[in-house]
Amino acid sequence: MIFTVAIDGPAAAGKGTIARALAAELGFAHLDTGLLYRAVGVQALHDGRGVIDPHWSAELARRLTPEQLARDDLRSARAGQAASKVAVLPEVRSALLDFQRRFARREGGAVLDGRDIGTVICPRADAKLFVTASDEARAGRRAAELGADHATILADLRARDARDAGRDAAPMVAAKDALLLDTTDLSIDAAVAKAVAYVKGRLPGG
Ligand code: DC
Repeated sequence: MIFTVAIDGPAAAGKGTIARALAAELGFAHLDTGLLYRAVGVQALHDGRGVIDPHWSAELARRLTPEQLARDDLRSARAGQAASKVAVLPEVRSALLDFQRRFARREGGAVLDGRDIGTVICPRADAKLFVTASDEARAGRRAAELGADHATILADLRARDARDAGRDAAPMVAAKDALLLDTTDLSIDAAVAKAVAYVKGRLPGG
């Protein structure tokens, strides 16, 4: 069976948690597409000694290896900012397109989470969710997760959201046919339950 679940939304809204839980529940494969941009961003900053070169970044995107995606420094706020900076580059986005589309169409079902999955990567996905939460709630969660200062994280998230939503190439926006899931006042379990019920209802015979 080929069945694609697209999950988009801003940083720390809960889309990663929901995507992982959905994939586990349904036995689907999961791709965190933010990791692709994080890996390219970190490497591009490193190679350019802090300056991002568009052509080199696209080359890095074409050459991305599984080892680079497994680096344990990809979750940091610095990697998030670097990701957001290379993510504005159309040549980087197009270099990552085929891999994501092939993943989405793999046999057995796939869940992809990111910013443009339901709009650009898989506009015909079988189920789409756009997961949001208030800025304060997102910063609170991320600060707890990283053990970092709330105000710093809040400023970081807002800067990243503005860049992700304001760029010309595949800006972050909810697909018209996506279910909007606001997790501000939901527990993880409640948010996951809503997402699972929605996706199961869209499965063949669901
Ligand atoms: O989901 P994340 O926080 O790991 O994503 C890091 C950055 O990568 C995000 O700020 C924007 C970019 N990104 C993107 O442009 N498109 C995606 N599908 C996923 C991430």
